[in-house]
Amino acid sequence: MERREIEQLVRAHMGQKLEAEGKRAYIVAANWKMNMSAKETRAFLRELCDTKVPEYLDIIIFPPFPYLPDAQKMLRYETVTYGAQDVAEQDKGAYTGEVSAAMLADCGCSYVLAGHSERRAYYGETSDIVARKASKALEYGVVPVICIGETLEERRSGAYKEVLKGQIEAAAKVCKEKPAQCIIAYEPVWAIGTGVIPTIKEIEETHRYIHDVLAAGRDAGDCSRILYGGSVNANNVKEIASVPHVDGFLIGGAGLKVESFKNIIKQLSLDGCL
Ligand code: PGA
Repeated sequence: MERREIEQLVRAHMGQKLEAEGKRAYIVAANWKMNMSAKETRAFLRELCDTKVPEYLDIIIFPPFPYLPDAQKMLRYETVTYGAQDVAEQDKGAYTGEVSAAMLADCGCSYVLAGHSERRAYYGETSDIVARKASKALEYGVVPVICIGETLEERRSGAYKEVLKGQIEAAAKVCKEKPAQCIIAYEPVWAIGTGVIPTIKEIEETHRYIHDVLAAGRDAGDCSRILYGGSVNANNVKEIASVPHVDGFLIGGAGLKVESFKNIIKQLSLDGCL
């Protein structure tokens, strides 16, 4: 049996155990974007592996493509998992610069980000492209973390619900067969890397809205998990974690330094936090 299959079995077992207790693992993910060196990657992962993490937390690192083999080697027997930041919508062929879902699976990726707002804004990724990427990932057993979020103008004009609905519905088409295997990351564009964060009331209202759109016609347990992302740090993570329908975090800046990332894990490990 291949290592990947063994890992999947172990994870499925852990998942079943948590589910039997009426819980699902809470996700803490770090998106490194185009940052870090090979040396920094190794030092970060080494220290992270020495950190005590409660079993109800799933820690995921999204390093740049060239460092995936480092993650594969170093996280081999660890509970920390990893994924890529993007995936091609095609299977294979003459697509210079692209990386396929099969290649990600070969590198042991359990997850991949799809449609981060930076990909949508700078590389013209539409919700349809994002859906095709996510669907390709699923085909190869890689869990897509589909990012959605509105701009400041859309928030201010009140059009944000319509915008989110369009993004969610495109994602939901992909996830409809396997909703529990897809993850949605709500990241208001105006909160990413800005230090500006929505109020708890806004996060609560938006996550409830996303949940309701996703859950329409489904059983409660049969719904994608919804992460929050945008200026999350060790000071605000506990309060946001208490919001209903926040099932974890996608962290940018505060996930680049192992100390600050560990601090976030520490906050979420405190008794009664989750
Ligand atoms: P941030 O980024 O935590 O630096 O705001 C989040 C993200 O882009 O995923």
